[in-house]
Amino acid sequence: MTVITAMGADGPVGFTCQAFSSLSLQPPQVILCPGRTSTTWPLIRAVGLFCVNVLAEDQAGLSRAFARSGGDKFAGVRWDSSPNGSPILSGAAAWLDCRVHAEYAGGDHTVVRADVRGLAASPGKRPLLFHRGRYTRMADDDAPGGAPLPLSPHQPAQGRAPLTTKDPKEQMR
Ligand SMILES: Cc1cc2nc3c(=O)[nH]c(=O)nc-3n(C[C@H](O)[C@H](O)[C@H](O)COP(=O)(O)O)c2cc1C
Repeated sequence: MTVITAMGADGPVGFTCQAFSSLSLQPPQVILCPGRTSTTWPLIRAVGLFCVNVLAEDQAGLSRAFARSGGDKFAGVRWDSSPNGSPILSGAAAWLDCRVHAEYAGGDHTVVRADVRGLAASPGKRPLLFHRGRYTRMADDDAPGGAPLPLSPHQPAQGRAPLTTKDPKEQMR
């Protein structure tokens, strides 16, 4: 799971985003897919610079907080400024400073291609995962079968449909 953050014109902004992937090594680029109804993405696009926070396995609460639409998502959240001026959420497993390179239509989402300007990772921190409608984490390296370990049931965010559909395409998120 990631939280995409930026320093907007009126303060820090961010939203929870699972649709994130590496794209290119040379030049270093990534892609992410904001929903067309996101109210935060236009604020980030206007700045052009943002930070991808890769959440650690103990940060499901942050993922839920940034999946709300509206309100002060940064209330009570500890963060530092990245080199490009975007918020790095304290305790994140890794972060990548990015600049918007291009944006493409993608159905009810858009595909954002971005240049990576800087990054860092916390050795030993493992990422928070979301699978089949619930937060989970990577199995311990020595766990038999390598099955994902559930953390807690997912609480659907306000304004977002519950993720309980039988449609396999919907279950990808
Ligand atoms: C597990 C999970 C994964 C999500 N993945 C995405 C995503 O890939 N892209 C996206 O735009 N929104 C995603 N969302 C929803 C956004 O976080 C949410 O719609 C957004 O924060 C709404 O706030 P906004 O109006 O401030 O943008 C996800 C939510 C959850 C709970």
